[in-house]
Amino acid sequence: MPTVDPADFVRAMARVPAPVTIVTTVDAAGRRWGFTASSFSSLSLDPPLVLVCPARTASCHDAFVTADRFLVNVLAAGHTGIAKAFARSGHDKFTGSAMEPCEAGLPGLRDATARIACALHDVADGGDHSILVGRVLSVSVGPAEPMVYCDRRFTRPGVSPALASTP
Ligand SMILES: Cc1cc2nc3c(=O)[nH]c(=O)nc-3n(C[C@H](O)[C@H](O)[C@H](O)COP(=O)(O)O)c2cc1C
Repeated sequence: MPTVDPADFVRAMARVPAPVTIVTTVDAAGRRWGFTASSFSSLSLDPPLVLVCPARTASCHDAFVTADRFLVNVLAAGHTGIAKAFARSGHDKFTGSAMEPCEAGLPGLRDATARIACALHDVADGGDHSILVGRVLSVSVGPAEPMVYCDRRFTRPGVSPALASTP
């Protein structure tokens, strides 16, 4: 099996435009957990499933792999500050943030582009990450333009006229 230089792999993946989400949950003791995640994707329509991948080293990892429910907040163009705050470990991410109880009482952003509330359906091995599979319980869609992460920058989705007209 050929070995891939990890730096090349990281460089290649940086070219892949990705969504920016903040995924939240509340543990049995009532503690709120959340992290910024680009590893979010839809997985299945029937049943409705999504996936997101917390690193095994993240302090929130165990809370998510044992959660009953989690909430995916799809961030909008104006959410750069909170995206950075929830990507930084070792501080209280929630106090003073715009997070408020939303679906299933989980912390969410009222002005998120979309919120997707999930029941934890499965946890699979994803190397140094875990793969959380969520069964979608409810969705809420707002008008704000989504943010994307590409080339290690928070940016806006670009729509070229030629590509936009492709079926
Ligand atoms: C744009 C962006 C996307 C990220 N995506 C992920 C991800 O999908 N999975 C992950 O484990 N960490 C991801 N991170 C890093 C985590 O947000 C960060 O390590 C977080 O602080 C981990 O949670 P903790 O504070 O509980 O340790 C991302 C960071 C950024 C800036």
